[in-house]
This record gives sequence, C-alpha cells and structure tokens, in this order.
Amino acid sequence: MTPGPVEERTQVVVVGAGPAGLLLTHLLHREGIATILVEARDREYVQARVRAGVIEHGAADILRRAGVGERMDREGLVHEGIELRFDGVGHRIPMTELTGRHITVYGQQEVVHDLAERRLADGGDVRFACGPAAIHDIDSAEPSVTYTVDGVEHRIVADFVVACDGAHGAGRPAMGEAVTPYEKVYPFGWLGILAHAAPRIHELIYANHPRGFALYSMRSPSVTRLYLQVPSTDRLEDWPDERIWEELALRFSLDGEPWEPTQGEIFERSIAPLRSYVGEPMQRGRLFLAGDAAHTVPPTGAKGMNLAIRDVDLLARALTVQFRTGNEEALRRYTEEALRSVWRAEYFSWWMTTMLHRFDGDTPFDRRVQTAQLRSVASSRAHATALAENYVG
Ligand code: FAD
Ligand code: DHB
Repeated sequence: MTPGPVEERTQVVVVGAGPAGLLLTHLLHREGIATILVEARDREYVQARVRAGVIEHGAADILRRAGVGERMDREGLVHEGIELRFDGVGHRIPMTELTGRHITVYGQQEVVHDLAERRLADGGDVRFACGPAAIHDIDSAEPSVTYTVDGVEHRIVADFVVACDGAHGAGRPAMGEAVTPYEKVYPFGWLGILAHAAPRIHELIYANHPRGFALYSMRSPSVTRLYLQVPSTDRLEDWPDERIWEELALRFSLDGEPWEPTQGEIFERSIAPLRSYVGEPMQRGRLFLAGDAAHTVPPTGAKGMNLAIRDVDLLARALTVQFRTGNEEALRRYTEEALRSVWRAEYFSWWMTTMLHRFDGDTPFDRRVQTAQLRSVASSRAHATALAENYVG
C-alpha cells in the first residue's frame, strides 16, 4: 500500500532557494512569520551555480540591513567606475564621482552561500533536493505546494505561496491566463567563463567591437570573469580555450592592438541566452511571484539578482503588514510598486544591450547611430550620470 501524502501547514510556503527565496524566508523569519522553503536541487548544486556578480548600492543596503552583508563587506570588491571601450579607446565612467554611490563585485553564489548558512543557523525550514514542486489552489484561501521525495508525496498548505523559482519554475505557468507576458528575445547569448587568473585591471570593461560585445569582470584578486557575445546557435564545443582567449584579446583591442586579459585555467564555462520578459501582474489570488519567476533582464545592465533582492524586500514588508494587521492593501500594491523598479531595470538593460552589442541586421546607419550614442555617453557628463545612476541603483 502506498502511504498517503504528508500534510503540513505554514504561513508562507516559498518555492525556489535562489537569492530571492532564501532572502525572503530570512526576512520573514526576522518578523516572526513561519515559512517553509522548497528547492528542487541539492544544496551543493544551488551554491555552486555561477551567475551574476554585481551588487548595486541599494541591494547591498538591503542585505546589510537584513544582517547578511558582513562577508560581502569584507570580501566584496568595491568599484567606483566602469570603462566603456569602443573604437579602440577606453572611456571611464566615474560612477562614484557622478552619483556618490558605488557597486560591489561579489558573486551570486557567495550571496546564496551566505543566505543558506544563515537560514540553517537560524533553524529555518529549508528543504533542498525536493525535485520540482507544484503549486495548487491559488484562487482559494488554502493554496498549497506539493513535491515528492522517495515516493512519498508532501503537501504544504499555507496562507500564501511565493514562487521564487526562476524563469522555468512552477510559478510562471501557475499564473495561467491572469498574466500578460511582455517579451523580447535577442539573437545572441553570452559565453561566460571563470579563470584562475589575476585580473589585469581592477574595473569592469564593457567593450563594443566590430566582432561583438565583450565584458571584463572579476571575482577576487585571483579569479577573472569574462564574457563574449556569441550567436544563439553556438555551443560550448565551438569555443575551445585558445579561441576564447584570442577572441577576447581582439574585442578588448586598444589603439588597434590586441589587449590580452591575464590567462589562466578556465574552470567554469556556460552559454546563456539573452532575453527580456515581464509578466504582469506579479500576483494571482494567493500566489505571488518574485525575482526571475516574474521577470528576466538581459545581463548587460547587471540587474537580475538586484531586482530579485528588491522584489522580496518589498514583498516581505507587505506580508508583514498583512500578518500583523490583517490589512491586505500593501499586498495588493505589490505588483504596482515592484513593476516600477522592474520596468526601469528592463529599460536600462535594453538600453545597455542595444548600445553595446553587434546586431546582424544593422545597417551602416544603425552602426553610426550606435557610435554617436557611445560618444555621447563618453563625453557628456549628463549622459554619463544617467548611465551611472541606473547602474549603481
Ligand atoms: P534563481 O536564482 O533562478 O533561483 C530559482 C531557484 O528555484 C533555483 O534554485 C531552482 O533550482 C529552483 N526551482 C526552479 N523550479 C523549481 C520547482 N518547480 N520547484 C522547486 N524549486 C525550483 N544576472 C546578472 O546580473 N549577471 C549575470 O551575469 C547573470 N548571468 C546569468 C546566467 C544564467 C545562466 C542565468 C539563468 C541567469 C543569470 N543572471 C545574471 C540572472 C541572475 O542570476 C538572476 O536574475 C537571479 O538568479 C534571480 O534570482 P532568483 O532567486 O529569482 O532565481
Ligand atoms: C558581471 C555580470 C554582468 O552581467 C555584468 O553586467 C557585469 C558583471 C559579472 O558576472 O561579474
């Protein structure tokens, strides 16, 4: 006889232990709200997943206020400017001089590691390796999440369900026809590598070159992070190490001469597609979406993880008001308030993507307009300030 499902109840059940889900359950725990966090993959996998690297000013403040910014402040790299490189010349955008704020380069996997440690130290109910969870009955007063481990079905009923399960989780489909999708797919992706190599310089370089976009970044004094624009159809097999290093040197060229990043063993590589997506609204009944579950930005503006952090900060505050006072007004306003930041980030990410990448169909006119745009940002303090304000957040 197969056993019946294990039935449980909590206040908020959260699906997905990326930065959004881990931070949300931590923030709710600090307000005395009970949560269960259900993650498909095991903890090692989640903590090893290499993704974003730039934490904007506002998101860093949220992590600090939540008491999880200590290692970020100790080990993160403070950056006060970025370089735009085009036509073989570098132009520094002095972000801190223009805005009074800075960014912190600190890998997403470090943020996830810090949050997971803290959740477990606080005795949080974080369940890794559950396989894909499913979301049910969101239009009722008793929404639930189910998952199956070792043949045993688990069912958790809650007052609210929050999907922090990324672009391919259960949250997006659960919205059904309640959601209007706004989408843009770019005809290229980013090949990203991590290498054991001391960064040759200490600020990020966003390079627009006739061969395509390249980005120079880092993770620590001994690890360099590099990206190349590649056609959507390219596979990792198309990019042996020598080809990657040659291409990077060409795209970062200065004064017509190849500019080589310090080389080292490549220990991580992946190709990620570039797309923009917003689903409106971010709530249906008792289901809320946060982070990549609700929206995707192309990585050029370094906004993905930052938006996820901002969403859950807002949602944690709204849920706290609801549980304390029974007033659902703040929850009802969640979509509207979150979408203001989301669309601003979508705009900025589209703007950076358009300005910095090479598009196959571009006419000579389009190319000249792109160069004029880059020159304007590089030479106008007002235009550079607009970039810097959006970038530092
Ligand atoms: P995620 O980090 O995606 O976390 C979602 C979690 O939900 C995952 O742990 C997943 O395993 C789990 N999950 C999914 N479905 C289920 C289910 N049904 N049941 C249970 N658990 C489930 N941003 C940048 O700014 N710069 C970058 O360089 C950059 N690179 C990226 C590269 C890749 C390949 C990807 C996918 C994203 C990248 N991003 C980048 C975006 C950034 O990493 C995301 O915006 C950020 O991870 C969003 O956090 P999240 O918590 O919302 O979602
Ligand atoms: C990194 C990623 C980005 O998408 C970006 O715009 C800047 C830096 C990084 O991984 O370091």
